[in-house]
Amino acid sequence: MFKKLRNNNKSESNQFNNLDLHNIPEHVAIIMDGNGRWAKQRKMPRIKGHYEGMQTIKKVTREASDIGIKYLTLYAFSTENWSRPESEVNYIMNLPVNFLKTFLPELIEKNVKVETIGFQKGLPTSTIEAIDHAKEKTKNNTGLRLIFAINYGGRAEIVQSFKTIVDELQHKGLSSDDINEDLINQHLMTKNYPDPELLIRTSGEQRISNFLIWQVSYSEFIFNEKLWPDFDGDELKNCLKIYQSRQRRFGGLSEE
Ligand code: FPP
Repeated sequence: MFKKLRNNNKSESNQFNNLDLHNIPEHVAIIMDGNGRWAKQRKMPRIKGHYEGMQTIKKVTREASDIGIKYLTLYAFSTENWSRPESEVNYIMNLPVNFLKTFLPELIEKNVKVETIGFQKGLPTSTIEAIDHAKEKTKNNTGLRLIFAINYGGRAEIVQSFKTIVDELQHKGLSSDDINEDLINQHLMTKNYPDPELLIRTSGEQRISNFLIWQVSYSEFIFNEKLWPDFDGDELKNCLKIYQSRQRRFGGLSEE
């Protein structure tokens, strides 16, 4: 799709909101926030907001894949979300099952590879099985990598990585001098992905909430006002447009 449109500049710019297709972030991470408020505004139970949030994931995945984003990481469930009422937790845990039942054929057709980060311990067996099935079915896909952060927390991830690093250093007879950024990167759950250039959080909240706290050191942050169920492909393109208007300096000076 991306290639085909490149041969036709007119439809390319129309379809993609005049985005500069040479400056698309490789990795976009999203904190999908506002499901509960969306439902509350409509006097509906919170789980209805999560259901609609799942539908938004489909829209955003389609758009991300069409635009040529390579990695899309979605914060689906944090290590802190277990403190929600049991019925809500159970509902959210079943969403991957529902999502993959209805959407896996399209993911396969779109060459999307399903992956996860987070702690498997504590997840219901049905959730693990649905995810494992999707991973297996999409393992050879070469398009968008759709990464669900489930039972994920940035601090817990860093703690786990430090434990492994200390064990390995002791085992190999190495010292603290051998600890560097690369070594830490290689022990994070995100070791196979580049850092996100762009982090989006919906619903107007301006917090990081323990999401990819190491990896977003130099990411651009966009706090979008829409509640997640109201977010869609066009809104993603709006965010990319804002991203393209930013200057990334990585602690250096601008060239102007
Ligand atoms: C935040 O909204 C949303 C969540 C904690 C859950 C997000 C999960 C999904 C959208 C579905 C996941 C589906 C798959 C396929 C993995 P909130 O409940 O904190 O909203 P609020 O701040 O308005 O209360």
